[in-house]
Amino acid sequence: MPTWLKSLDRFFPIRYLAWIACAVVMLLGAFTQVVVHTGGVWAVLGLVGVITGIRDVRQRRHSILRNYPVIGHMRFLFEFIRPEMRQYFIEGDNEAAPFSRQQRSLVYQRAKGDPDKRPLGTQLDVQAEGYEWINHSLQPTRIASHDFRVRIGASCAQPYDASIFNISAMSFGALSGAAIRALNGGALRGNFAHDTGEGSISVHHRAQGGDLIWEVASGYFGCRNPDGTFNPELFAKHATEPQVKMIEVKLSQGAKPGHGGVLPGPKVTKEIAEARGVEQGVDCISPASHSAFSTPIEMLEFIAKLRELSGGKPVGFKFCVGHPWEWFALAKAMLQTGLLPDFIVVDGGEGGTGAAPLEFTDHVGAPLQEGLLLVHNTLVGLNLRDKIRIGCAGKVVSAFDIARMMALGANWCNSARGFMFALGCIQSQSCHTDHCPTGVATQDPQRQKALVVPSKIERVHNYHRHTLEALKELVQAAGLQHPNQITANHVVRRVAGDKVKLLANHLEFIAPGALLAAARGECDWPHAVYKIYWPISRAETFAPAPAEVCADGLKVPLPTVGDQAAVDLAI
Ligand SMILES: Cc1cc2nc3c(=O)[nH]c(=O)nc-3n(C[C@H](O)[C@H](O)[C@H](O)COP(=O)(O)O)c2cc1C
Ligand code: SF4
Repeated sequence: MPTWLKSLDRFFPIRYLAWIACAVVMLLGAFTQVVVHTGGVWAVLGLVGVITGIRDVRQRRHSILRNYPVIGHMRFLFEFIRPEMRQYFIEGDNEAAPFSRQQRSLVYQRAKGDPDKRPLGTQLDVQAEGYEWINHSLQPTRIASHDFRVRIGASCAQPYDASIFNISAMSFGALSGAAIRALNGGALRGNFAHDTGEGSISVHHRAQGGDLIWEVASGYFGCRNPDGTFNPELFAKHATEPQVKMIEVKLSQGAKPGHGGVLPGPKVTKEIAEARGVEQGVDCISPASHSAFSTPIEMLEFIAKLRELSGGKPVGFKFCVGHPWEWFALAKAMLQTGLLPDFIVVDGGEGGTGAAPLEFTDHVGAPLQEGLLLVHNTLVGLNLRDKIRIGCAGKVVSAFDIARMMALGANWCNSARGFMFALGCIQSQSCHTDHCPTGVATQDPQRQKALVVPSKIERVHNYHRHTLEALKELVQAAGLQHPNQITANHVVRRVAGDKVKLLANHLEFIAPGALLAAARGECDWPHAVYKIYWPISRAETFAPAPAEVCADGLKVPLPTVGDQAAVDLAI
C-alpha cells in the first residue's frame, strides 16, 4: 500500500468504504427524494446497507464482518458459489475433485445414451508417470454379449449369478426415496444388483423389484431389537424375501472406517423409521462396531448363521483394509474353523459417503489398490481364492476402471458415485445439507420432485449397459473372452520417465499356497507385511499379540510362544 494511502487509512479506514458509500447513497437518495421527488429507492437501499454495516460491526460471530462491514459479505457469497464457479469455469477436464469433468461427462453421456466417443485423440498425457494402458492383441476376439456374470456362493443353496458391475451400498436416508426407486428400477431393467446400504430395505427398494444385496451393519437396521442388538427372526423374515439375493455384513466403509454415523432426528422420516426399525424423529445411530460378534471366529459364525437364516443365500462382508493383523486374524479364523464368507467386498479409502470428517475421508483406510491386493494375495496364498469371490468399490466409473480392478484380482466391481452421476448428481457436494440441487441426496419432498423416476431408471440402465458394452470392446481388443481373463500382465504403467512396467511386475502378486508354505517354514515370507503381521495375528481376537521392541528398534508386536503354537495349529 502506498504511504499516502496508509496515512489516509489511519484517519479514514478504507475498509469502511462500502459502508460509508451506503451512507452517502442513503443521504443523496433522501435529498433527491425531498427536492425532486425521485431517488427514494436509493435512500432505502442505502439505509439497508447502513443498518447491515451496524449489525456487522456489532455481531461477534464473524471477525471478517466486524472488520469489513457490508463488503465482507462478498466473501461469503464467493465462498458459497466457489464450487460451481470452479467446476464450470476453472477446473481442468482431468482434474479430479473428487471426480473429473471427463469422468462425469462419460457417465452423463452413457446414461443419456448420447454418443460417448471423443474426437481427435486422447487428452491424457501419455508420458506422465502413472499413465496406464491395456495391451491389445493382433487377433481381437468377438464376444456375443456384454452381460458378463460371476457366480457367488457356488456352494450355497441359492447361489447368485451377479453382473460384474453393480450399484454400491447407499442407504435410503443418505439418498432420497426417488433416487432409490430409480436405482432399483435401473437394476431391474439391466438385471444387475442394487446394494441397500446400511439403512436396510425400504418401500422404495421394494417398489420396482430389482435384485437386492441387503447390507447388515452395526445398527442392524431392519433386523434389530429395540435396544439395537441383532434380531434373528426379523433378519430371517426379510432375508428370505425373493428380491434379496445376497447378504453383506458391513464392517467398515472406505470414506470413514471405524467412525460409525448418525442420521439426525429431523431426517428420520416415517418411511426411514419403518425401514430401519427405529423411532421417527430420533437420532439414528450406527455404532462404530458390531455387537453380534467381537472376535474373528465369532464373526465367521455370525456369517454362517445368517446364511442359514436366509435359506442358503450367499453371505459375505464389506470392509476397508486397516490394521493388516485384523484382516489376517479373519483369514486365520477361516482356516481354523473352515467357515468361509461367500464373498468379500473391499472398499477403498477413496470411497464416498454422504458425510464424514475430512480427516477420515482423506487419511483413514487403505486405498483400493492396496486393500484389494492384500485381500486377493492373502486368499491366493492360503489356497482360499477359488472359494471366495471378491468385489470392490472405489472410484470405478469407466470400463477401463473395471478392467483394471479385475486385473488386480477383483471378480466384480461396484459403483456408488458413478450411479449417482447417472441419476443426475452434479457433484455440488452438498449431500450433507439436505439441499441437494438434483433431488438425489435429500429428504426434502419438494427437492425430490426434481428427480423424475421413470427417466432416471432409463439412465441408470443405460449407464450400466453402455459401460459393459465398452468393457466388452476392451476385452475383445485384448484378444480375450471374458473380463475375468484380464490379468496384471495385460495392464502397463509408466512408473517414471521412460520406464514402463506391467502391473504384474510393478505390484506384488504372490503364488498359490505361498503363505501356507511360509508359515510352515518351507520358504521365505512373500512380503514383509506377512512376515511381520501374520505371526502376531490370532483367530481368537482382532488384537495383535503383545508388543515388544524388535532388533532394528521398530516397535512391533511379536508373537508369544502360545500364539505361535496356535498359528502353527491353524495352518
Ligand atoms: C451417498 C453415499 C452413501 C453411502 N452409504 C453407504 C452405506 O450405507 N453403506 C456402505 O457400505 N457404503 C456406503 N457408501 C460407500 C459406497 O457404497 C462405496 O463403497 C464408496 O462410495 C466407493 O464407491 P464409489 O467410489 O463408486 O463411490 C456410500 C457412499 C455414498 C456416496
Ligand atoms: S448433486 Fe450435490 S448434493 Fe446432490 S447428490 Fe450430487 S453431490 Fe450430493
